Amino acid sequence: MSVRTSEVKSSDYVGKEVMIRGWVYRLRKQKENAFVLVRDDRGGVIQCVFPVEKAANLTIESSIEVTGIVSQDARAPEGGYEIKGKNLKIYNLAGTDYPIGEYQSEELLLDKRHLAMRMRKMVAMAKIRATVLDYGRRWFVESGWMEVTAPIIVKGAVEGGSTLFKLNYFDEEAYLSQSAQLYLEAMIFSLGPVWSLTPSFRAERSRTVRHLAEFSHLEAEAPWVTLEDLLKVQEQLVSYVIQNTIRERAEELRYLGRDISELKKIEPPFERLSYEEAIEIIKSKGLRITREDGSRKREIQFGDDLNIDSERELTKNVTKPIFVVGYPLAIKPFYVKENPHRRDSGLAADLLAPRGFGEITSGGLREDNIVSITERIKKEGLNPAAYDWYLDLRNYGSVPHGGFGLGIERLLRWITNAEDIKDTVPFPRTLSRVTP
Ligand code: 4AD
Ligand code: MG
Repeated sequence: MSVRTSEVKSSDYVGKEVMIRGWVYRLRKQKENAFVLVRDDRGGVIQCVFPVEKAANLTIESSIEVTGIVSQDARAPEGGYEIKGKNLKIYNLAGTDYPIGEYQSEELLLDKRHLAMRMRKMVAMAKIRATVLDYGRRWFVESGWMEVTAPIIVKGAVEGGSTLFKLNYFDEEAYLSQSAQLYLEAMIFSLGPVWSLTPSFRAERSRTVRHLAEFSHLEAEAPWVTLEDLLKVQEQLVSYVIQNTIRERAEELRYLGRDISELKKIEPPFERLSYEEAIEIIKSKGLRITREDGSRKREIQFGDDLNIDSERELTKNVTKPIFVVGYPLAIKPFYVKENPHRRDSGLAADLLAPRGFGEITSGGLREDNIVSITERIKKEGLNPAAYDWYLDLRNYGSVPHGGFGLGIERLLRWITNAEDIKDTVPFPRTLSRVTP
């Protein structure tokens, strides 16, 4: 039976024969010996030493099986253990032109992502990602929320028509889902608090370090909640995911160069800032925003959405996430519930990650009144007929309810301190990239 390199690297195995399977990660041939650094199928590496003639034709990324005796040698890279090779079986001799070497442009690494997946930084990110998803799910399961699955092929926009991907659905037009929200809303009437983890799609025309065309969306919805209940859920969820991830993935985070001392302090409560306070802070820092028509810049004012620049200004010197609460209705989607005490303001909140990372969740209470929501759908230029079924929910036993959506890649970008959101996903989809 084969073992992984992480098992080999323990004194239990010293002097014993083991078999490992993997790929040639580095190769150094000297007069008598060949030093083969082998990578196993979890990204761990160990040095195997062979008489040079045995490894004469080996190439980088060839798949091999090594049998040999484990020994301890302080000179061996990666922890002082190595394997004195007895047998070498080659499964596939890789072509000599493996395109990924030590120094490569980011563009080439994206073009060759199917091969770049074998790089250690990619493996580290993939492991952190798996752990974040694992604890994201666990929080909901342990807190008694029920997992549900919403369709990906849909008829209606949730987050505005401009970022919809169109699709030929037999003989009619359909779209790729922007958010599971409307379907989650339909499920709370019989399933109570629900959550889902599905891909969401946005035909984002902008090229930024925080937008993908396809992203992993962790969404939740519950009946009978208040806005404050929803904020509590989010701060607990995010803190739980982070504390468990930095504990289980300390090595990988270190490999990616992430200093985790600030992450250690992420725990509830997170600060709640009103939208008005946020605008005042941004204004006081002198940030000017570009006018809608692209002409001269002007001061930010009540009614403006918070874009990447304003969010960065607001969060660059803070170390914990902040909620911005009470966005104007006019800049939020049709489903946001109006604040009964403030007509132009919505019972909605975004969670902004610190150090300039910005928005990681959006959520709030939903408009549950049939008349108001129909009006809002029309006002947004959407066709109420496409929302027939959704409006039924307001007609038959409507309840106060709400939820939120968290972008997994946004969260990961912050946790790993990644420059670009593309780094957090194995095969990114953007305006200019749909392969590999
Ligand atoms: O803010 P958004 O658009 O809100 C919604 O979709 C709600 N319907 C969610 C809900 O209440 N169930 O998206 C939610 C989150 C954002 O805060 C962000 O983290 C992420 O999804 N997100 C993206 N992530 C990567 N690339 C994009 N283009 C994203 N758009 C949104
Ligand atoms: Mg949002």
